[in-house]
Amino acid sequence: MQGKVAIITGGARGIGEAIAKKLAAAGANLILWDVLEDAATETASRLAGEYGVKCKGVAVDVTDADAVENAVKAAVDEFGCVDVFVNNAGITRDGLLLRMKEEDWDLVLKINLKGTFLCTKAVGRFMCKARKGSIVNIASVVGIMGNAGQANYSASKAGVIGLTKTSAKEFASRGVRVNAVAPGYIRTAMTDKLSEEVRTTMLGFIPLGEFGSPDDVADAVAFLAGDASRYITGQVLKVDGGMVM
Ligand SMILES: NC(=O)c1ccc[n+]([C@@H]2O[C@H](COP(=O)([O-])OP(=O)(O)OC[C@H]3O[C@@H](n4cnc5c(N)ncnc54)[C@H](O)[C@@H]3O)[C@@H](O)[C@H]2O)c1
Repeated sequence: MQGKVAIITGGARGIGEAIAKKLAAAGANLILWDVLEDAATETASRLAGEYGVKCKGVAVDVTDADAVENAVKAAVDEFGCVDVFVNNAGITRDGLLLRMKEEDWDLVLKINLKGTFLCTKAVGRFMCKARKGSIVNIASVVGIMGNAGQANYSASKAGVIGLTKTSAKEFASRGVRVNAVAPGYIRTAMTDKLSEEVRTTMLGFIPLGEFGSPDDVADAVAFLAGDASRYITGQVLKVDGGMVM
């Protein structure tokens, strides 16, 4: 990762921040995109100070096609290239399907799936021209196994997995790899909202007997982002304590 340039969407906090930290520790220069501009700037300056890399926080909404295109161009102008792109920004709006509001369906699909498409299109164009690059998409095990109360979220993450495989096939001949990491139950702000009852039930399904940490996901992303995985593309790496086999 030394001297490489990585963009991480939703990089201000949670799993995105853990990925940023891992890549910075490996010597990568970073651009963190987030709708939380202050948090992204704060995280970026902290990581730059801690790891001595170049790191910048930028306000980018991944659902805004023009903003995404412009931000990729700005990154290339300022940093020289983009070697790694992590599609991490994502949200949940949970509820049982029969009661799910159309707006909650639309918003989750828009950020999690369309956002990943727009970013992949913008950065993929640049990477294919440069004939190198690694894109890592953050999916979820619920995109593979489904989950009551998450029709919108599980559909968006299943879509991300399909998009990962298709873009991997389309970009492979240009030397650009695309893989996904599918986390299981990870302790973050997103999952802190769940009730104690749900948490206890979930633990019963995890063979390794504990929830994962953002660091566990970041280790998998760092592997897929770097040259150690040079012969791997179109894959979905589950980081879930063995929950889905
Ligand atoms: N936490 C888990 O257990 C878990 C499990 C599986 C997958 N994931 C996935 O991991 C990713 C990160 O989740 P997290 O738990 O760290 O959540 P989080 O809410 O802590 O972080 C998500 C980040 O994305 C940003 N974001 C939201 N909408 C955005 C937009 N339109 N444009 C740009 N940035 C935007 C948020 O501001 C936030 O900083 C998500 O894709 C999530 O679906 C999380």
